Amino acid sequence: MARSEQIRSIVSQIPDPELERSFGDLRMLSDVVMDGTAIVVRIELPTPAYPAPERITQLIERQVTPLLDAGQSLRVEITSRVRGKDAGGRVGLKVHNIIAVGSGKGGVGKSTVAASLACGLHTMGCRVGLMDADVYGPSIPHMMNAKGRPGATEIQDSQGNKIVRMEPIDVGGLKLMSMGFFIEEGQSVVWRGPMLHKALTQFLSDTQWGELDYLIIDLPPGTGDVSLTLSQLVGLAGAVIVCTPQQVALLDAIKAVDMYQKVNVPLLGFVENMSGEIFGRGGARKVAGELKIPFLGEIPMEGCIREYCDRGQIMQMLTEDNPSRDALLNMCRQVAMQVVRELVRSPAGPVLEIL
Ligand SMILES: Nc1ncnc2c1ncn2[C@@H]1O[C@H](COP(=O)(O)OP(=O)(O)OP(=O)(O)O)[C@@H](O)[C@H]1O
Ligand SMILES: [Mg+2]
Repeated sequence: MARSEQIRSIVSQIPDPELERSFGDLRMLSDVVMDGTAIVVRIELPTPAYPAPERITQLIERQVTPLLDAGQSLRVEITSRVRGKDAGGRVGLKVHNIIAVGSGKGGVGKSTVAASLACGLHTMGCRVGLMDADVYGPSIPHMMNAKGRPGATEIQDSQGNKIVRMEPIDVGGLKLMSMGFFIEEGQSVVWRGPMLHKALTQFLSDTQWGELDYLIIDLPPGTGDVSLTLSQLVGLAGAVIVCTPQQVALLDAIKAVDMYQKVNVPLLGFVENMSGEIFGRGGARKVAGELKIPFLGEIPMEGCIREYCDRGQIMQMLTEDNPSRDALLNMCRQVAMQVVRELVRSPAGPVLEIL
């Protein structure tokens, strides 16, 4: 009979099809056990957003099946658990991965991409928060059709002191925080820079986010101010840069790359939004290739995207059958995998460790 130790050693050497390192090295092989005449191989994916995990089953079957004896069978069980570093930094968040969504230019679809990323990962079963860092022009409450004012709750810190925390607005388990919840619709916020820094700090540290797999941050257009503040407060998994395919937008995206590098925020890659007949397509992929930055997907220009956004139905856009859903879900998977690639690459070795 093929023994579990033998199978374990073989499976642990198989390279993961996405991460190109072995299951053993990546600590994705969690167990090999006997269940009667069946050999059970348990694989733990680093995120439920892992694309096409059936490839893993096929790879293992191909290697192990020839070793089985008559009457012996193989069963591959796949589960997932989001891995990440302790990203909470100075503000004490319990978040595995903090992903900022930015661009070099306004109006390219940052908020749409950020909200879609949050909703997509949420529908895949992850614990997700979405923070609107656009304090002057918050759009997340509208896109998520979320209303209400965050409540205050009193908790005890580790020393037993009572502290007051803001409750994020909960939309079906997805947690939201935005300046939009504190101002009336149509009102504007007039603040100086230090106030902006303070508001963002409070959104991060004084919000009762709980434990999250991903915190997605929708950045405002333009300057590096907010990115710099964020990078000082927390350990960002990285930034996703959204751009449209026109040449001018791409030049701005290149500037954004430079800006994130200056503030030491790792780049996860480019997302091309609004690709199609009007603006063209493929420009961002080409520039990403030239800059050696990962390309995380193309989202077509679709009337239904604007309609879902306008109606505040981003969650439905990710779950209902519509022409943009596959592209959006694919983008979510690519971003989540790029976060894992960054983790695996970091110098501390095989670091797929939880908080
Ligand atoms: N792929 C798309 N197809 C059609 N409409 C889109 C697409 N992406 C975004 N939009 C629409 O474009 C408009 C701008 O999008 P969004 O608010 O996400 O941009 P933004 O980059 O966050 O803007 P700002 O710089 O003002 O924060 C919205 O009306 C949105 O519905
Ligand atoms: Mg926006």
